Amino acid sequence: MEILHISAECYPVAKVGGLGDVVGALPKYQHQLGNFAKVVVPAYRTKYYDTHEFDVVHQAGMWLGHDWYHFNVLKERSNELGFDLYLVDIPGLLDTPGVYGYPNDTERFLAFQVAVLDWVNEWQHQPDVIHIHDHHTGLIPFLMYYGYKYGRLKDIPSVLTIHNAQYQGQFGWDKLYLIPSFDLWKSGLLDWGGAINPLAAAIKCAWRVTTVSPGYLEELFYNANGLESLISQEKDKMVGILNGIDTAVWDPEADHMLPANYDIDTMDDGKQQNKEQLCERFGLDATLPLIAFIGRLVGDKGADLLPEIIGRSLHELPGEVNFLVLGSGDPHIEWSLQQTRQTVSYGFNVHIGYDESLSHLIYAGADFLLMPSRVEPCGLNQMYALRYGTIPMVRSTGGLKDTVIDFGDNDGVGIRFNQAGVWDVCYSVKRAIELYHDPAHLEEVRLRGMKRDHSWGSSAQRYLSMYSSMK
Ligand code: ADP
Ligand code: GLC
Repeated sequence: MEILHISAECYPVAKVGGLGDVVGALPKYQHQLGNFAKVVVPAYRTKYYDTHEFDVVHQAGMWLGHDWYHFNVLKERSNELGFDLYLVDIPGLLDTPGVYGYPNDTERFLAFQVAVLDWVNEWQHQPDVIHIHDHHTGLIPFLMYYGYKYGRLKDIPSVLTIHNAQYQGQFGWDKLYLIPSFDLWKSGLLDWGGAINPLAAAIKCAWRVTTVSPGYLEELFYNANGLESLISQEKDKMVGILNGIDTAVWDPEADHMLPANYDIDTMDDGKQQNKEQLCERFGLDATLPLIAFIGRLVGDKGADLLPEIIGRSLHELPGEVNFLVLGSGDPHIEWSLQQTRQTVSYGFNVHIGYDESLSHLIYAGADFLLMPSRVEPCGLNQMYALRYGTIPMVRSTGGLKDTVIDFGDNDGVGIRFNQAGVWDVCYSVKRAIELYHDPAHLEEVRLRGMKRDHSWGSSAQRYLSMYSSMK
């Protein structure tokens, strides 16, 4: 089967969060299962773009409203990723150092979608499935059906994966002229709440819709940032498929970003060596339990709670615990974490920014990984933590609920709490410290987590079965 994934992110080419990890891994596993997976992403000017070689496989031009853009489709030459990688280069729009956050993001991702469709429209053959990810590619199923140029793509089955329904990519009807001409009688399919809503349009038009965990699908019926009634309406074509992790990239035994590698048998020593390096770098005490947070510093992740959680825990339990935060995002949260760092003189440090190799060191060196998320469609961090023998402390929501059982229950691998609130998290911090001081129990929970299989195997297979059912 030939599967074309279209996405705004793909690790290691361009990654902001878990979307990149998933699109960098799922196609690889689909390939290993005997399929032909292709991924197309924008040609941002990332380190990967600068350090790899590409062949131009398609050159064309297009109108975006009143502006004309040239674009090239590039194919990565070495095939090192385990699937075919294509980049869409649109100078003046997509040749940015970053992925998102530009004032013309609407135009950038619209142009990306149009370029991909124009290119696929020229192929001699057709892919068996077009698999789009999140709102950045959400107009594609609509355009495949109703765009005047794309009639021959109508019969290709399309799948939308919702990684996060909080972000929908809405823009005003005043920008309708940017969308290539289509059957205007169908305009209603683009609309949600009086705006053009690419995520809603994709939910309406894709043949199948998946969410990145079964738990998140259940939540969407009552918490989908305004799309709840649409989710109910389209429920028959929706299915929750839990993300996996790329166990080749996330492997404590072979991870080249770690100062000390380890496996199940050498976990105690290995983790301790990583912890010592980490603590030395951040001025922390390696004899105390280390609780870390890695992620986007936004309200959905509960990152706004961190300053109070850290301040209160260090005040109530002085000299008993360390905290370390790696992240970037909302400037106010960044600022209050830095303020907290200055107010508490020991036991806490923060690194503001995005740092892939530091994240690996933290997964390996920390004792606990805190995720007080308000919304977590799947969450990959907790699965990375488990693989590295680090105990996840998670709020019971979405994919966190599906992947982490509390250590107080049978087969437990983590610590769970119900509310994204300071009190609940501080109580969990106390439970973490108690567990840390019970070495036999701590080791048992860690090893159980390391033995959990979160690889893509069965989920990749579920996607394939779903594709086959669409024929
Ligand atoms: P989301 O996609 O909502 O941000 P996920 O848990 O699915 O959350 O994935 C987050 C991914 O991004 C993980 O691979 C995590 O390690 C990584 N990540 C997040 N913030 C940072 C950061 N500041 N530095 C390095 N990696 C980060
Ligand atoms: C989104 C979600 C996250 C999920 C990731 C990969 O960014 O916020 O929970 O793990 O996508 O599917």
